[in-house]
Amino acid sequence: MTPKFHKLKIKDIKKETKDTVSISFDIPADLVADYQFESGQYLTLKTLINNGEIRRSYSLCSSPFEKEWRVAVKQIENGVFSTYANKVLKIGDQLEVMTPTGNFKVTTSKDRKSYVLFAAGSGITPVFSIAKTILEEENGDVTLFYGNKGFHGIIFREELEALKNKYLNRLRVIHIFSRESPGNKIQKGRINKEKCADLYTAFLKNQNIDEVFICGPEDMILNIRESLIENGVESSNIHFELFATNIKKQKVTEEKQNVPSFASKVQLIVDGDTIDFELDSNGLTILDAAQEAGADLPYACKGGVCCTCKAKILEGSASMDVNYALMPDEVENGYILTCQAHPTSEKILVSFDD
Ligand code: FES
Repeated sequence: MTPKFHKLKIKDIKKETKDTVSISFDIPADLVADYQFESGQYLTLKTLINNGEIRRSYSLCSSPFEKEWRVAVKQIENGVFSTYANKVLKIGDQLEVMTPTGNFKVTTSKDRKSYVLFAAGSGITPVFSIAKTILEEENGDVTLFYGNKGFHGIIFREELEALKNKYLNRLRVIHIFSRESPGNKIQKGRINKEKCADLYTAFLKNQNIDEVFICGPEDMILNIRESLIENGVESSNIHFELFATNIKKQKVTEEKQNVPSFASKVQLIVDGDTIDFELDSNGLTILDAAQEAGADLPYACKGGVCCTCKAKILEGSASMDVNYALMPDEVENGYILTCQAHPTSEKILVSFDD
């Protein structure tokens, strides 16, 4: 199903920390099926601020079994939407909200599995949802490493405590502070590769690790991943969600400039309609070109991170500048991030409906 925006009313706003609110939405009964989600997925919010359209994606911190649709928004410096959400939005206001999307999700099983979760700052949002679902739906155990500047930055602090009390012996929460001392030396600092190796030795060495979920900045994710792989964790069992990235895009664009370009005939299928346009193979991305041609397509980050713009190639081929969102098997099956894709064949047929 192609993700769609609907106007939803804000049901509740909760102050989580001094710079973070969580916002829940009223989902009308006839849309509940469309808004079904899996823990780890996110909502893309859209609104007009100072006459400009703003879209931002925020992970759901609620879990499907709670029958609640709640996201957390941390105010970032000069962040247009995050400031608006923290300072202006109120209960009863309406926002355009896209149906849930995202590949970062947990699939619970009947087996008793051991999960290790890493989050930094507001990266806790999807990880919190994932932890609740695991604890509620299966018998596995969860170790959560949660990095913050200090105690007052901990989002969902009380809820995490309550969760620990509810699921005694099945949930460990290890806070790591970069600017305060948590008492234990190992819990002080940033979660870099060395810290991850120390945490592994201190907390994980004597246990199995079945699956790992990481959410935070790119360098933290890469460091944790490397460290865990060195300690024998299968890379296919390490799942991650990047917050933002722009490092590699520039490099790829520079490389592309040396390849001769050609005109490709692009046909898109969206909601059963078709859109045709011509596109220079070294020019705009398929998503940008389609928007210029007047198409209304789903997207959020335009950075290859969120996978909202995912579509399937039915004919022809394309290459992506970056891909931080699609799984290898999806790429093998012809899926692309249209915000990153350029045609590599003279004709290409791409469907948003598959
Ligand atoms: S819009 Fe986020 S990956 Fe394309």
